[in-house]
Amino acid sequence: MLVLVAGGAGYIGSVVTAALLEAGHEAVVLDDLSTGHRDAVPDGASFVESSLADVGQTLTADAGFDAVIHLAAKSLVGESEQRPELYWRQNVGGAMDLLDAMRVADVRRIVFSSSAATYGEPDTDLITEDARTEPTNVYGATKLTIDRMLAGESRVHGLGAVSLRYFNAAGAAYGLGERHATETHLIPIALQVVTGDRDYLSVYGTDYPTPDGTCVRDYIHVADLAAAHLLTLEAVGPGEHRIYNLGCGSGYSVREVLTAVREVTGHPVPDQDAPRRPGDPARLVASSDRIALDVGWAARRSLTDMVRDAYEVLQARGTP
Ligand code: UFG
Repeated sequence: MLVLVAGGAGYIGSVVTAALLEAGHEAVVLDDLSTGHRDAVPDGASFVESSLADVGQTLTADAGFDAVIHLAAKSLVGESEQRPELYWRQNVGGAMDLLDAMRVADVRRIVFSSSAATYGEPDTDLITEDARTEPTNVYGATKLTIDRMLAGESRVHGLGAVSLRYFNAAGAAYGLGERHATETHLIPIALQVVTGDRDYLSVYGTDYPTPDGTCVRDYIHVADLAAAHLLTLEAVGPGEHRIYNLGCGSGYSVREVLTAVREVTGHPVPDQDAPRRPGDPARLVASSDRIALDVGWAARRSLTDMVRDAYEVLQARGTP
């Protein structure tokens, strides 16, 4: 297939692009480089620097695209609470522009990067796709809105659409890892302590109703995420909107992640207890049974793999 990867210069997008190429597909990456990096676009993919507002210039009827993978979005929960208008404009406005262009060009297949943030804080051990969606931040609300837009586009205009609700993406693949100007994620921050770019890690909240008092998350390797994009892209049919959770089905606390980082790197990674970070749910763990059943996807890589692979890419890069 010829696939337009919107947001393919970002962390997950670049790994998905590399996986597409490896599987024999062709890829055109469209990215405005607001948070992505030109040098993250894998060799073998074409690159167009463009915002989604102008996607129609690339996604034309004559260009021959078979499908779109859409990962171009603002993705910081905290920022979304401070600048909601930016998130509605970029995420929801961008998705509308993209869907309009797809309709005009008659490209009828999309895989969309949705999020566990669509659920909010469900009171359940394992979150299924049937859990109530009550996002607790603007970021999650924009992702849920786009999921709903896709449902309508499928029903009315016959689009084949998949919403992949990622839990906590981590790790690295194809030499591509996380590289954010402002880093907020747990594993990259812990690795910054390892590389000497920070003195210690703050543990945000130690009084949650979890076994060790710190938040529990479901970490999922970026290569496993990429595999899910490829499988569902091929499986979805016209007029369908499928929603799939992507996680390992096991929860790790902040302290357990720190233990894994210490074991993998051999560094003591000093930490300090800190107040809760506003908006953090105590526990978010996925049931990914639906995607396993429908397309045979399963997470194959462990938390140790995630930490090790992220660390290796960091070392190869020489800077955080
Ligand atoms: N944490 C710390 N110290 C840090 C950084 C993080 O204790 O320096 C904690 C957080 O409080 C949280 C856990 O580590 O309990 C994981 O935090 P991350 O920032 O790595 O990830 P989040 O769970 O907050 O967010 C992720 C995605 C979001 C998505 C969300 C869905 O990054 O895009 O999961 O719940 F919306």
